[in-house]
Parts: sequence; structure tokens; C-alpha cells
Amino acid sequence: MDLLIPAATGIEAVVKRQLALLGYPNAKAVNGRIALHDCSWTDVARLNLMLRSGERVLVRLAQFAAEDFDALFDGVASVPWDELVDKTGRVTVVTKSVNSQLFAHHSIQSVGKKAVVKVLQRRYPVLAETGADYRVELDITNDVCTVNLDTSGEGLHKRGYRTQPYDAPLKETTAAALVDLSVWNPDKPFADLFCGSGTLPIEAAIKALRIAPGLGRKFAFERWGCVDVGAMKSARSEAQDMRVHRKLNIFGGDISPKAVELCALHASQAGVAEHITFVQADAAQFTSEYSYGVNISNPPYGERLGDVQQAQQLARTMGKLYRTLDKWNFYFLSPVEDFERLFGRRADKKRYIYNAGIKCSYYAFNGPKPNAR
Ligand SMILES: C[S@@+](CC[C@H](N)C(=O)[O-])C[C@H]1O[C@@H](n2cnc3c(N)ncnc32)[C@H](O)[C@@H]1O
Repeated sequence: MDLLIPAATGIEAVVKRQLALLGYPNAKAVNGRIALHDCSWTDVARLNLMLRSGERVLVRLAQFAAEDFDALFDGVASVPWDELVDKTGRVTVVTKSVNSQLFAHHSIQSVGKKAVVKVLQRRYPVLAETGADYRVELDITNDVCTVNLDTSGEGLHKRGYRTQPYDAPLKETTAAALVDLSVWNPDKPFADLFCGSGTLPIEAAIKALRIAPGLGRKFAFERWGCVDVGAMKSARSEAQDMRVHRKLNIFGGDISPKAVELCALHASQAGVAEHITFVQADAAQFTSEYSYGVNISNPPYGERLGDVQQAQQLARTMGKLYRTLDKWNFYFLSPVEDFERLFGRRADKKRYIYNAGIKCSYYAFNGPKPNAR
């Protein structure tokens, strides 16, 4: 089986590195999706459970030229749906069309669904559609249609622990990528001075403790009759064995008491509460007993929270704080255009990442290298 893993713009390389660490070194990134070949249902189970920054795990079922609806129908009907979908399966078709002659989503959806139903009715004349969900994706790009089956169900950012998101939370998958893109390792203190719902501190703890992010939830494929139950069982037991126990030093601060309350709830639901200290505090007042550490934050910004002036003032304040904690590494995800000027220093590294559809920059302001300390 070939698998496709969609990744948010800017973090494809992070997902590739995570895949390599999970034993998939030959993954290739194409158009925002990472492709893996020769995979099994056990790989599907492992990736859904363990991958921290991929958005979903899709099985690629077919690929064909689709310049008109007849070709689309025949191509979709060439898939042996009756071997994949149970008698009571509920099939939903979602579509994507880029630079192609077929672009009317409703019509593509309707033709695709009819083709799936036609194949299913060869085996099951009456379809109940009361059982497991099968989300079929028809991705038509440059007149070539790729048919994918989504094994995840809800996106992989839904870990299950963040039940009451506070204002403008980061996707868990993006937060995990920001942690990976930093120099933080579990021996160093970690801080997020604008922690909101607690996503960054919790994702840092999950990484450090090698907790498989999907252990607290279910995936669509677990209800499919075509999948050997042993696949999930073995992946779950591997994921449980991966966990390590160690001491961590993780701090989350937020000016809002409500946010801090929710952070504590989320950390407890993620099973990492004992590893993180959440405090209601103004980021401007932050001090640390540690001479070095790593702060990763996405401070509020104009488009979504507060106003632009507040965001600009916070960038200035963070620049001042950085100068008082000069052995700390500071990372900020922000769409504020002149963040570096306001911060008072050019970033040592800057990369573009999309957060909730907004183009942001991820700025790294380094402290001195450890051997220079
Ligand atoms: C964009 S949200 C952070 C979202 C967070 N990363 C998450 O995933 O949930 C920004 C947060 O900064 C907090 N905040 C605003 N001004 C602050 C300040 N001066 N000090 C600390 N926190 C502040 C807000 O209460 C809000 O929770």
C-alpha cells in the first residue's frame, strides 16, 4: 500500500524527520504531502498513533487521468470498494481540484459517490450506511485524479487532551513541529510565556516522555472489517513500550487565570501534569533561576486576538526580556511583519509557517552556543 501524509505548509521537512525516526527513512515530499511506499495496516496504525506533526494518514488507492466525468466515474469504479468498505459503511466523498477541467466540487463528489456505490452494490444490493465512516478524497490536480482513503477520521491534531481550547490555540501538530524546530532537548528548561491552552508545553512534554500522541483517541480505520485487528494491537503495545520516565522542567505562563486553569486540565488529560508548572503571570515579568533555557511562544497578534498595537508592544517587551535572559533561546511564531525591528534584533533563523491559514514567521533568537557559555 502507498500512504500519503498531508503536512501543513512549512513543516513538511519536520514530518519527514519524524518519519525517519519512526523507521521510514525514504519518505518523499510532493505538493505538501509525504508519500510512503510498500506499507501495511500495521504501518497505518503506527503512523496514526505515533506521528506528531502529520495531519492525517491516507491510503492511496488509485491514480488516473480525469479530464471528464466518464473518466472520473470509471477511475473511481476501478477501485475494489467492496473489499474495503463494510456492508453498513458510510462513505463520504471530499474533493480537491487544482488547475483541472473538472472543478465543480458538488458534481465531482456526486459522480465519485455514485461510482463507489455501484461497486459496493455488486456485493451488497442494499446499503444501510449506518456503520463505520469511510472518508474518500478525490484530489484532482492538473487533470489527474488521485483517490485516497482517510484512515484517521478526525485530523491527527485532535489528540483528545485539549477539550476546552482557549482563544486562538495552535494546532497540536503545529506546536509539535515548533518544538522539533527548536534547539530544546529534555535536559533543558522549557518555557512558553503565552501558553493559552497549554499546547506548546504539553507537546514538549509528550515528545520528551516519548508518549505516542494518538494513544488517547480512536481512528476511523479501527472500525473497518478489512483491517486485521492485530495491526492496531501490536502498534498500541509498541507505543506503550516507547514511553520513558524522566524529570522535566517545563513552565507555562499566561496572563489569563482562565487559560491557566484550562492548561492544568489539558496537561492532566494528556498525562503530563506532574511535569509542567503553569502560572498566571505577565510575560514581561518573567525571570528564571536557570541561566539558560528555551522559550517557544506564539504571542497574541492583531488578526485574531487583541489589537495590532498590543502585539507590537509585546514584541518590544520580549526583545527587552531576551536581553535580560541572554543565555536563553527565544522562538516566536508571529504574523507581525516588523517583529524583528520591534524585538530589536535580526532573528538568527526565520521560516514561514501557516497557522490557521495565516502566514506567520517562526523566528529564532539564539543565546550563545553551549560551548561558549
Ligand atoms: C495566541 S494565544 C497562545 C495560544 C497557545 N499557544 C495555544 O496553543 O493555546 C496568546 C496568549 O497570550 C496570552 N497573553 C496576552 N498577553 C499576555 C501577557 N502580557 N503575558 C502573558 N500572556 C499573555 C493570552 O491570554 C493568550 O492566551
